[in-house]
Amino acid sequence: MSHDILVLYYSRSGHTAQLARFIARGVEEVPGMRARLRQVPPVAPVTEIAMPPEPEDGAPYVSRADLTECAGLALGSPTRFGNMAAPLKYFLDTTGAEWASGALAGKPAAVFTSTSTMHGGQEATLLSMALPLLHHGMLIVGIPYTEPALNNTVTGGTPYGASHVSGTRGDNAISDHERELARNLGRRLADVARRLGAPA
Ligand SMILES: Cc1cc2nc3c(=O)[nH]c(=O)nc-3n(C[C@H](O)[C@H](O)[C@H](O)COP(=O)(O)O)c2cc1C
Repeated sequence: MSHDILVLYYSRSGHTAQLARFIARGVEEVPGMRARLRQVPPVAPVTEIAMPPEPEDGAPYVSRADLTECAGLALGSPTRFGNMAAPLKYFLDTTGAEWASGALAGKPAAVFTSTSTMHGGQEATLLSMALPLLHHGMLIVGIPYTEPALNNTVTGGTPYGASHVSGTRGDNAISDHERELARNLGRRLADVARRLGAPA
């Protein structure tokens, strides 16, 4: 098994991308483990529009090999009406072959999201993202309340996964607690992957 945790996200205005980088940092705090940061392309009503091969900013686009090669997966999306964003769902809906072959079965996974408002559906989104991963046979890793930041945060951070409240104008910086919980989730995910058989 590889040493890589795939940190895969969609982000329109950069908040989920920021969370992804903190999760990646946590992954790399586990000796021998590496974060492979990737994003899904946007989708348009006319889906046949050719995408440039590389995104203009952020991580490279994900490939099928990234999925099969990873020892674990952190999946992130902004909240859209209490659910994951269409580009991420669209990508997941193309993973039938990986589902059929069991490419992700038995590997650990975690989820993360960003909302503009405090009660705008973070938990609903995180749970909706966990569902397809359970169908893939993945083992969901959350954040336990033994993490002091989970008891003390007044913005994002949930037992279901990492999160950020970006504000209605999108100008909230990631709080210390949100950052700590995202890093903790990355570290926990990489540690579980290593215990399950990824080489140290
Ligand atoms: C179509 C649409 C639906 C949204 N739905 C919600 C929502 O249900 N709850 C919420 O708090 N924010 C909602 N938002 C705001 C985004 O979740 C928020 O701005 C997020 O931080 C953006 O993340 P990003 O910077 O990674 O793109 C919505 C935004 C759009 C464009």
